[in-house]
Amino acid sequence: MKEADVELNVNGVKYRLRVEPRRTLVEVLRETLGLTGTKKSCNEGECGACTVLMDGLPVASCLVLAVDAQGREVVTIEGLSKGEELHPIQESFLKHGAIQCGFCTPGMVMAGKALLDRNPRPTLIEARKAVSGNLCRCTGYQHIINAILGVSGQF
Ligand code: FES
Ligand code: FES
Repeated sequence: MKEADVELNVNGVKYRLRVEPRRTLVEVLRETLGLTGTKKSCNEGECGACTVLMDGLPVASCLVLAVDAQGREVVTIEGLSKGEELHPIQESFLKHGAIQCGFCTPGMVMAGKALLDRNPRPTLIEARKAVSGNLCRCTGYQHIINAILGVSGQF
């Protein structure tokens, strides 16, 4: 298949790439850019493991073509920490025991961050709604919700 030129802005870094137009953003993030923090599971928009931020909004990167991410600001889990310093929501996930196998964690963190960026003191319902598109088979969700609320000291 003919490749297309695309310029992606990921975690503040610009990448000029040639990609097949059918390749999804999660594939390019993981396989071309080596940003494997974003997970791929269902590959059809059902599990939320591949959640990244595009212009501040959470999206399932398995449903976005890489070429359609051109001109958008993409943030992945790798873009949250500053060197060794974790983002407050990452600290909160650790503090609240919200991680077990960790497969869902990047997506959960990105969905939670999107909420906290627009609403720094969410309610329980808002926190639940924010991760309603993200599946976790390990934690039972409550620890994840506690971690999101914990960023603003509510838990
Ligand atoms: S891998 Fe994208 S939503 Fe499941
Ligand atoms: S921690 Fe294992 S799927 Fe969520």
